[in-house]
Amino acid sequence: MFFVICQHTQPILPMNHSPPLKIADLIIDPPFMLAPMAGFTKSPFRSICLRLGCGLVFTELVTAEGILRHRPRTMHYLETLPEETPIAAHIYGNNPDSMAEAARVIESLNRFSLIDINCGCPVPKIMRRGGGAALMKDPEKIRKIVETVSKAVSLPVTVKTRIGLTPDSINISRVARAVEEGGGRAIFIHGRTANNRHNGPADWETIARIKDEVSIPVIGNGGITTAGEAVKAIKEYGVDGVMIGRAAIGNPWIFEESLSRWTDQPFTPPTDQERFEVITEHLQKLHRFMLAEARIRKRTLDKSGAATCRHFYGHLVRYLAGDPGLTKFRKEIIQTTSIDNLLKKTRLLLLNKGY
Ligand SMILES: Cc1cc2nc3c(=O)[nH]c(=O)nc-3n(C[C@H](O)[C@H](O)[C@H](O)COP(=O)(O)O)c2cc1C
Repeated sequence: MFFVICQHTQPILPMNHSPPLKIADLIIDPPFMLAPMAGFTKSPFRSICLRLGCGLVFTELVTAEGILRHRPRTMHYLETLPEETPIAAHIYGNNPDSMAEAARVIESLNRFSLIDINCGCPVPKIMRRGGGAALMKDPEKIRKIVETVSKAVSLPVTVKTRIGLTPDSINISRVARAVEEGGGRAIFIHGRTANNRHNGPADWETIARIKDEVSIPVIGNGGITTAGEAVKAIKEYGVDGVMIGRAAIGNPWIFEESLSRWTDQPFTPPTDQERFEVITEHLQKLHRFMLAEARIRKRTLDKSGAATCRHFYGHLVRYLAGDPGLTKFRKEIIQTTSIDNLLKKTRLLLLNKGY
């Protein structure tokens, strides 16, 4: 078999696969990405996913207006670790000129590979301001935003959106055309409507149809739960890439397994020791990240790590999902307020099977 060595990390693709996904000049290899998830996809988790074979990550959702005001919290969302690449800055807003100005600020930070505009967030606070999924009501506005932002920066501009606002108003064809006409270099489509949030099946047939209607890369998203499904989605629906959301929480190895399946290589699931090491790395990096955020926002420093522990529970219960000890220790873990103790308990549960 012939192999080609590709741009980042160590993917080695057999030649019989299609060429790697390119967004403008950026090679996304392998074509499996981590979906932006507010509260979950902070820098520490993103860096772990990238190391385990994820092709692209996104910042949490950042307001363009907040960037223009240099709001400390907003700017902290744009902090990345040096190893965090490639990464998209994921922004929202409604005013093309403000968004273009925010994009210039992002470009000047010199740490992002592309700028992604959110046109799919159903959160009322964001939609009330005309951002997120509210933009789907006005594809012409989307075209204008993409065009204005694209002209302002040299980074590629992309859009993450949904198939429509409601099942009765599915207008992704018009939205995708607007993105392409505005100069967008790729579109990420979550195959659910905004009113369905994250519930119910994703409509991959509609995503596949859009792939035939536009010539920019189409990346599908929604309802992928395993590496096998991620690879199958590309083969079955012809999309250029797949974005994985909730299934990656507690299982960043889904990217390693997707890459293995994509390159026809065997995959060895992580041992409990490896899982414990990744949990430890995640928790410690998260603590440093949250201390930095507190400093920037001039908040009291949470040195023992109670706030970090609270934040981490959402990840930890998923890392430990399926472990018979979790049911017994869940309450105890949730009441733990120091990082050292949380790690001790996790070690006991995972490695010493202390239940
Ligand atoms: C907790 C949570 C937060 C999310 N935050 C964002 C966000 O900030 N921006 C965005 O475009 N999508 C956001 N999403 C949607 C995901 O990016 C993704 O489209 C959705 O979860 C469907 O993928 P999945 O079925 O693989 O989870 C969020 C989803 C969840 C569950």
